[in-house]
Amino acid sequence: MKSVRSPLVKTPIKAPTGIAGFDEITGGGLPHGRTTLLVGGPGSGKTVLALQFLAHGARACKEPGIFVAFEESSKRIAANADSFGWKLPELRRNKLFFMDAQPLPDLVQSGDFDLGGMLAALEVKTREMGAKRIVFDALDVVLALLPDTAAERREIYRLHAWLLAHELTGVITLKSGADDTSPISQQPFGFMQFMVDCAVILNHSVVLGVSQRSLRVQKYRGSGFDENESAFLIGNSGFEVAVAHTLSRVDAKVSNERVSSGVARLDTMLGGGYYRGASVLITGFSGTAKTTLSGAFAEAACRRG
Ligand SMILES: Nc1ncnc2c1ncn2[C@@H]1O[C@H](COP(=O)(O)OP(=O)(O)OP(=O)(O)O)[C@@H](O)[C@H]1O
Ligand SMILES: [Mg+2]
Repeated sequence: MKSVRSPLVKTPIKAPTGIAGFDEITGGGLPHGRTTLLVGGPGSGKTVLALQFLAHGARACKEPGIFVAFEESSKRIAANADSFGWKLPELRRNKLFFMDAQPLPDLVQSGDFDLGGMLAALEVKTREMGAKRIVFDALDVVLALLPDTAAERREIYRLHAWLLAHELTGVITLKSGADDTSPISQQPFGFMQFMVDCAVILNHSVVLGVSQRSLRVQKYRGSGFDENESAFLIGNSGFEVAVAHTLSRVDAKVSNERVSSGVARLDTMLGGGYYRGASVLITGFSGTAKTTLSGAFAEAACRRG
């Protein structure tokens, strides 16, 4: 599959992720030759999504990719994704390259470094393999080592400029605090969300004991997108995003006519009975006559013929 243009509006060229629901809500994928930010709490799926994007590009779009791992070792990342069946070992021969860029302990102590050296090495690799996609996974890990905000910004701008100059489709993943409710501009590295062309926010929460994952496209320069939150799960072959299709036209008929509930006094309370065509929910604890009440409705219907 080649990079696609949305048929409806004139939009930037898209780099498909191969994730059906996700390519649908973004109108074809991530912005080609531009930078996308993936933000989410720990375990929200940033690394899986980013790697799936690279694997799909290498496998199906003739777009070789580079994965720069700042946090976990490339060995562990590849092992974790083994069960997804993305054929990573095969792709790694010439279409997918992992660069281990975990900061060394002495670097951590000196606290004084920049991304210049790494970008120079990446430049060589990019040319060598004709890379079109690149992921910087867990950029927060290196940014946190810099002495001050000014240095952080300097390195972020350096990286952004490098990505633009090389026309690579870039993904940067960044951890957000699990319960960070402060305005974006005050969050650490929050200004990155203003800088990039596309930003996607991943959420993972537990509601009444049930795990719920969702994602939302926060911005997409130059393109329309589904602004709603979409549920997703991480299944046997990676991300699966559910797209909520809103009905543009509802054809259901509504009626003012009443039908008897089968209980005269309940009909009085309801102003004549249930509305015809309505759905009625009867709820109550065990033994509170839900079945009996439903039975009365059925019996009345039979009496009416
Ligand atoms: N091979 C797999 N099979 C099934 N589920 C997986 C697999 N790999 C990861 N997951 C699920 O995906 C979740 C998110 O993984 P991922 O490493 O992408 O999160 P992350 O956002 O990068 O987290 P962190 O900020 O800690 O790096 C895991 O917690 C796990 O539930
Ligand atoms: Mg990760």
